[in-house]
Amino acid sequence: MDMQKIPAREGNHNLKDYQKMRESFSWDDMKKNFSWSETGKVNIAYETIDRHADNPDTKDKVALIYSAPDREETRTFDELRKESNQFANVLKKYGVKKGDRVFLFMPRSPEFYAAFFGILKIGAIAGPLFEAFMEQAVRDRLQDSQASVLVTTPELLPRVPQDDLPDLQKIVLVGENDEKDEKYIDYQREMEAASDQFDIEWVDLEDGMLLHYTSGSTGKPKGVYHVHNNMIQLYATADWVLDLKDDDIYWCTADPGWVTGTSYGIFGPWLKGVTNVIRGGRFTPESWYETLQDNKVTVWYTAPTALRKMVSAGENLPEKYDLSSLRHVLSVGEPLNPEVITWGLKALNLRIHDTWWMTETGAMLIVNLPSEEIRPGSMGQPIPGVEATIVDNEGNEIPPNQMGNLAIKTGWPSMMRAIWNNPSKYESYFVNGWYVSGDSAYRDEDGYFWFQGRLDDVINTSGERVGPFEVESKLIEHPAVMEAGVIGKPDPERGEIIKAFITLNEGYEESPELLEEIRQFVKTGLSAHAAPRELEVKDAIPKTRSGKIMRRLLKSWELGLPTGDTSTLEE
Ligand code: PRX
Repeated sequence: MDMQKIPAREGNHNLKDYQKMRESFSWDDMKKNFSWSETGKVNIAYETIDRHADNPDTKDKVALIYSAPDREETRTFDELRKESNQFANVLKKYGVKKGDRVFLFMPRSPEFYAAFFGILKIGAIAGPLFEAFMEQAVRDRLQDSQASVLVTTPELLPRVPQDDLPDLQKIVLVGENDEKDEKYIDYQREMEAASDQFDIEWVDLEDGMLLHYTSGSTGKPKGVYHVHNNMIQLYATADWVLDLKDDDIYWCTADPGWVTGTSYGIFGPWLKGVTNVIRGGRFTPESWYETLQDNKVTVWYTAPTALRKMVSAGENLPEKYDLSSLRHVLSVGEPLNPEVITWGLKALNLRIHDTWWMTETGAMLIVNLPSEEIRPGSMGQPIPGVEATIVDNEGNEIPPNQMGNLAIKTGWPSMMRAIWNNPSKYESYFVNGWYVSGDSAYRDEDGYFWFQGRLDDVINTSGERVGPFEVESKLIEHPAVMEAGVIGKPDPERGEIIKAFITLNEGYEESPELLEEIRQFVKTGLSAHAAPRELEVKDAIPKTRSGKIMRRLLKSWELGLPTGDTSTLEE
């Protein structure tokens, strides 16, 4: 077999002829898949859950299989409808209205999903936070969004700031607690008292539903704002790319604190009405295989980091498990190494389908379809209805096989509609009618796109996006640290690791203990995934004359590369 091109396998794929579909496709055609095309009543929570609960054929179908080391439970569509209605009633009782921001800071659990849909049903905007965040990360996001309610657990409550959050009116606690202050709402007690009937707040397709905070190379994390209209593209890609069919058992490994965990951990599968496996707790290659085997997973959406760990765990490991149900595997978040695809063909006897998109894009844009040839190392081709290209710095298209900035013609349905409270940041994404991604890539003559790297300083560690500014800001809060510059350093398993260069304040001596203390300071103050794995003390941090940290230069030094243009370097 030609390893450069892996042909599509025979199969009953939902989208058989991508080229033909592309020619005549209009997004309007997708609208017929939603009840609002007939009723005029819009709410993504209705399409995702209640529609299946209203249908006698799917009402009692298992929607959610939840498994964590200490808990195994299921929910049918009808049960999810009722529980989310109850939660919507709880929010209503405490005065939450359409457009309000309600944040979730808790591990994956059945309660998370009840709360999430309750928020959407009342027309509020959900803001899921990654459970590993520490106080500073939680504070930044709650402050910027001016969230009025937070849903969390007693275990995570110590990381919720007690001051500086004037807008935060109520904290819902999921789990046993003895908080007496009237600021706290006990989830269990309120849910028991709440009706399981709720009149959904019908919204406009352009009304907000979700805020995901994500990192850029400068400034604090920014709130990427998505609207109900997103469902059109989420449905389409769940159909064409995830290739979901009625009797599929689907598993997405991503946490709902990140966009993959909402777009395709929640909406995609349930818009298509399939059974969705949600796995809590920590992962090991063994537990991944067990989850696939024990739940008879048919479609699996995961990340290169997970796959690379499975590759390292050895080729004999998958033989110990019965993975015969698995028919379709996809990947997102980082470059998918060709070696991993080769491993997949051997160990799983399946092709692994890379997909490319971003928090800002809301849904998949460039993909490998089950019915198309795969070119290992390529992210694939744009889905029908999406036009992608490569542009230069001025936003002009450049020819095939030349590297530039990956750009998408504006107007796809799931595109973010704003950066919360930051219109100028939002504007900065667009040039000449293109959304400019900041990823460097090229396109071959046949329209396959090939990822090359980031054009800015954003770090991608184990598929998680980390802004160097956020880490630098935390580092310099430590009394020993004067200045800090943070870069991503290539790593075979994690893609990149975070490396920080620091200068020390007078009176501090470099020692392994001090460096470990500083590392822990970031880990416990910001979040574990943002803590530098490597810390190096320098005499000075290179900066431009206008005071910007020259991370590119730090990176060149670290990797022993030519330093390029240093004319703006401060004396
Ligand atoms: O650099 C690209 C990388 O992840 C970035 C987006 O990160 P985030 O907003 O956290 O969303 C991740 C999941 C949707 C992109 O700018 N990225 C995403 N998918 C791929 C990728 N890099 C290479 N190949 C991919 N398939």
